[in-house]
Amino acid sequence: MQSSAVINEAVQTLRDGGLVAFPTETVYGLGADAKNPEAIKQIFIAKGRPSNHPLIVHLAAPDKFDQTQIDWVALLAPWVRDLSEEALKLINAFWPGPLTLVFKKGKSVLNELTGGQDTVAIRAPSHPIAQELLRKFKGGVVAPSANRFGKVSPTSAADVRHEFEGMLDLMVLDGGDCEVGIESTIIDLSSGDKAILLRPGSITPSEIFAKTGVKVYQPGEVKSGNEVTVDLPRVSGSLKAHYAPTTPLRLYAPGRVLDALSEFPDIKSRVAVAVWDSESSLVLDDHPSTDVEEVIVSSDPTTFASRLYRSLRDLDQQGWDLILFPEPPAGEEWDGVRDRLQRACFGSGPSSSNHDNN
Ligand code: TXA
Ligand code: MG
Repeated sequence: MQSSAVINEAVQTLRDGGLVAFPTETVYGLGADAKNPEAIKQIFIAKGRPSNHPLIVHLAAPDKFDQTQIDWVALLAPWVRDLSEEALKLINAFWPGPLTLVFKKGKSVLNELTGGQDTVAIRAPSHPIAQELLRKFKGGVVAPSANRFGKVSPTSAADVRHEFEGMLDLMVLDGGDCEVGIESTIIDLSSGDKAILLRPGSITPSEIFAKTGVKVYQPGEVKSGNEVTVDLPRVSGSLKAHYAPTTPLRLYAPGRVLDALSEFPDIKSRVAVAVWDSESSLVLDDHPSTDVEEVIVSSDPTTFASRLYRSLRDLDQQGWDLILFPEPPAGEEWDGVRDRLQRACFGSGPSSSNHDNN
């Protein structure tokens, strides 16, 4: 954990227009003052991210025990044009926590952070260091995941340092390993009547419905006028290639690991195969041509998510020729990790920087 003195220094760095990487419960963020256009520009440069990809504004949750007493309306007034009943239900149920909400933006919200859109994404992270930083800073902090564009998000301070090594002399607050392990769920409330899921995460539509009675629609389910909306706001996580390791990564269907291996018949290749902890060993000895090693992964979706990026980063460092992961089972509780794994596969491989992720 980080001392108050170090957090005070981070606050000063943000006030001076600098960047600070900090832990959240989901992944580490690369933070800058949301009111400082120059600082925001530095984030896009550091990440190598296109300037029309909007950032999430992180806000402090007031330090009160009784959540229902928190005046979110006043806190959000500078950022959000109007706050619906539904929005307040979601906020009261899930903030601080891994839920990002997209609203119509308030007038003073900088175009630099919204990528020129008339909406703004906001969340209150629950990690105690993030909260202390935000409370002391007394303002909004924009923070994308602290990785280079298209790469695997960092879930430890060492990951962040590794990501920007030799490029950027970055202050990194160390809050240990991130608990959730994949980025926040994003819900779009900006169209007025319907809540739409833009990015699946650990908080699922069923959990939202159970706790608030608010129905969350999948993007394909919502019609605008007579047409199905296909023109979603720009979400860089919605690009096919994202969260990608440099080693080729593929998924295998249940029981089909040998098929996946035979599609990659290089006799000299070294393959890491992730295997559910609930399954007995895969009997890979049958496959003579490759050097195969099993890596056990959790069959519990929450635990799997918390370790996914850690495993991908570690495996990527170990010099395998191929990484195989099991296809996550059907079911909403797996949507977040399925989404990240599919994108990671698509963008993986040594040429990942050449894929359509810019
Ligand atoms: O868990 C998280 O959300 C992490 C931690 C650091 O808070 N942050 C994060 O930021 O994942 P980033 O920039 O890597 O991803 C934010 C996503 C992007 O896909 C972005 O396009 C989307 O949020 N986004 C931001 N503002 C938006 C808006 N106004 N409308 C739609 N999508 C938006
Ligand atoms: Mg990201």
